[in-house]
Amino acid sequence: MKVVGGPASGLLASRLAEHMNAELLQCEFKEFPDGEVYARVVDEITDEHVAVVQSTPTNTDIIYLLQLLDACQAAKKITAVIPYFGYARQDKQFQPGEALSSRAIARAIRADETYVINIHNDNVLGYFTPPAANLDAAPLIGEYIKTAGIDNPIIIGPDGGAEELAEKVAEKADAEYDVLEKTRISSEEVEIKPKKLSANNRNIVIVDDIISTGGTIAESAALLREQGANEVYVMCVHAVLAGNASEKLNAQVKEVISTDTIEQDISKISVAPLVADALG
Ligand code: R5P
Repeated sequence: MKVVGGPASGLLASRLAEHMNAELLQCEFKEFPDGEVYARVVDEITDEHVAVVQSTPTNTDIIYLLQLLDACQAAKKITAVIPYFGYARQDKQFQPGEALSSRAIARAIRADETYVINIHNDNVLGYFTPPAANLDAAPLIGEYIKTAGIDNPIIIGPDGGAEELAEKVAEKADAEYDVLEKTRISSEEVEIKPKKLSANNRNIVIVDDIISTGGTIAESAALLREQGANEVYVMCVHAVLAGNASEKLNAQVKEVISTDTIEQDISKISVAPLVADALG
């Protein structure tokens, strides 16, 4: 197998190539003055299996992915690895006439097989042809927590949607887990607190699939601190970090850590072993 890394996933592609003892092909990328972009795989592609690794946090990254898949057409087999698949939260038609954006983009992606990581909604997998496979980074986050020296943490999902992630992370980290739950006390008052456990005097790791604006996590961290939590850490799979998300979070928590599905300064957990295992 040979590995091609797009501009959003260059580091992960090189880590993957190293894990798989595979050749990383050299690529060139540039942007024209009118905003159009250009991609070229410089090394020759012949009759072989190529994995194209490119997350799509921006519209431009979607174009680079399509270009790279096209540039690899001479390969015998093409695997698309899209560690972070953007638009996955636009996973259904909320209003009539609305574009089902995740489907529109998935339909444009042509590969023999496609892997994504912790996609926001499993329904999106079926929009790919053939259907994409979803890899789970939760055990990697759990392993990281185990070695991070955080004393007896509770793993907390900020809402019911993050319960499965919290459970799987906790299982690997040998920790307790919970989710925040909203209870209406009166017409004016809503209480938000962990469903089963008390945060008082406990170290907390809030886990979520995506941090976008940081609003969900900043609010959760502030509440948990009000409820007596000691140190609050945040770990996520996809650190989109839109706008001033980092500042918002840093004001509330001790540390924010992510995987490298989107390459950020806080990407301390690599998904390379997970992808390498899947590609065999
Ligand atoms: C929502 O369902 C997701 O799991 C995340 O909680 C959400 O996307 C986070 O968004 P933000 O960082 O903008 O609050």
